[in-house]
Amino acid sequence: MCGIVGYIGTKEKKEILLDGLQELEYRGYDSAGIAVIENHHLEHFKAVGKLENLRNKTKSYNSNGFGVSIGHTRWATHGKPTELNAHPHLGEFSFVVHNGIIENYQELKKELQSQNVTFLSQTDTETIVHLFENYYKKTPNAFTAFTQTVSRLEGAYATLLITEAAPEAIFFAKNGSPMLIGFGEEEVYFASSDTPIIGKATEVYYLEDGEYGYTQNGTVFLFNADGAKKFTTKALATDKAMAQKDGYRFFMEKEIYEQAHVMNDTMMGRVLDNRVYFEELENNLFDNIRAIKICACGTSYHAALTGSYLLERIAKIPCHVEIASEFRYKEPLLHDDTLFITISQSGETADTLEALKMAKRAGLKSLSICNVDNSSIVRESDQAILTRAGIEKGVASTKAFATQSMVLWMLALYVAQLREAIDADTLQQELQAMRQTPKALLVNDKLHEKIHRLSKRYLHGHGFFFIGRDLFYPLALEGALKLKEISYRHAEGYPAGEMKHGPIALADSELFTIALMPKTLHYDKIKSNVEELSARDATILAISPEPFELADDFIQTHYDEHPMLEFFEMMVVTQLLALEVSIRLGNDVDMPRNLAKSVTVE
Ligand code: G6P
Repeated sequence: MCGIVGYIGTKEKKEILLDGLQELEYRGYDSAGIAVIENHHLEHFKAVGKLENLRNKTKSYNSNGFGVSIGHTRWATHGKPTELNAHPHLGEFSFVVHNGIIENYQELKKELQSQNVTFLSQTDTETIVHLFENYYKKTPNAFTAFTQTVSRLEGAYATLLITEAAPEAIFFAKNGSPMLIGFGEEEVYFASSDTPIIGKATEVYYLEDGEYGYTQNGTVFLFNADGAKKFTTKALATDKAMAQKDGYRFFMEKEIYEQAHVMNDTMMGRVLDNRVYFEELENNLFDNIRAIKICACGTSYHAALTGSYLLERIAKIPCHVEIASEFRYKEPLLHDDTLFITISQSGETADTLEALKMAKRAGLKSLSICNVDNSSIVRESDQAILTRAGIEKGVASTKAFATQSMVLWMLALYVAQLREAIDADTLQQELQAMRQTPKALLVNDKLHEKIHRLSKRYLHGHGFFFIGRDLFYPLALEGALKLKEISYRHAEGYPAGEMKHGPIALADSELFTIALMPKTLHYDKIKSNVEELSARDATILAISPEPFELADDFIQTHYDEHPMLEFFEMMVVTQLLALEVSIRLGNDVDMPRNLAKSVTVE
């Protein structure tokens, strides 16, 4: 969840780095830094907070003439957002920037400390620069030392290193985190995505996992496990807005596809080998807590409902959920043995913020689950967990919901660990399933094509019912909300077992039922609810791993071992359905009528 920029050439480097970082700032903005080597002179600057602070700090600095430079904007994962923890990290004569996580950093750190290396930061990244310098001292060849360093790294990384030992080169390596090389006239750029270099470089090469190397005198020397590697560049896009959409038609579409990747960020450093860990939470948060109340609005409310099932089932703690705008005026009875959780993508929703203030006035401890650090809700809460979804531009929330649901699943396990409500085997099974989530979120081309084709049958009718039971009831609510937000069709989410108590009166062939039929939770129950609707001639789109004969349309899902994997896979199906229906109806998918991304009024 960070951004990287690098430049080697004769242009003024500070502006190139800062402008590039500005494009990436949405990926992380709790600190930023740059480092430049020019005429054998090493210079570096770091600042906490937004990039603006780094700009102010570097006002009187300029770098003309040939040189190498790297920059970074950070979203803290290991260690708090302080200047010491900001990148670039320095050794004695080198600097490094890094995205991702070095999983074996503790082992590497111990090894280096036993050789009297002093660490200044709490980050995993700092190990890279010390490892490099340690190898260099033994074999004074910078590329050999860099190769040895890379061979020791486990985990995900995109990294750039500059060193006085080779002041005309930038060393790079990529595995699991994005990185590209841009080519201009006698100059080479690096960046973690292409927007920082659009308008500057003309050609680009997107590095693949396991590739590393260095660039010197305008040439890039590229290697992988098989040795030196030839590569071909391609023309770089010229339109920034298009590039931001990465070729997708809408931001919402891009964000649906991004979910698999983003989920790794959400879990990073939190889902460990045998437990869930939240570095950001103080150990005593759950002391004397006997119940949880969650308040939220819109999509975040649906995530909250999902969380309530998980917290009660896994952590065995009573959990109640309320819509923030209702909670505010109901004169709620609050007890200080209740932990008050707010969920908000933006961190600015007025009703949620006000609910939080009320709970605080009543003396409750508070925790927020939010996507925006330093937002009002995060600042107001005692403690916060960031969802790390990255900026979400589509007004209809997708990846924010996915990451909120994931954080709640992790929180349920975390609380279960604290309360010893889960045995070791079950915990292992949960963690194993959790690690599979990114795969369950991958959008398969065939699936998307199928949903595109069948969406043409779901443009009219007199309404949609999304139905599900248990965890799939909040998902049904969310599926219906997505559809109504961007297609303007009437859609409701309903608990499947409740249809017979009224709504079934609406059933006829013009009533579209989207049935969420997971195999792992109450399959037979939901099946009979859908049969009741089918018997009244409702049109049924069934989503399930199990073929269902009465369905008019059927989308087969694949994960059938854990409810949350089924949940995430089905979530993607409902998101794509809303997207495709909206596109066919000619609506503005990213900016639907009457809605706003962040609602800061009551
Ligand atoms: C608005 C947005 C919704 C969002 C809701 C709550 O209505 O359009 O997508 O779910 O606010 O926002 P929050 O930022 O608190 O999650």
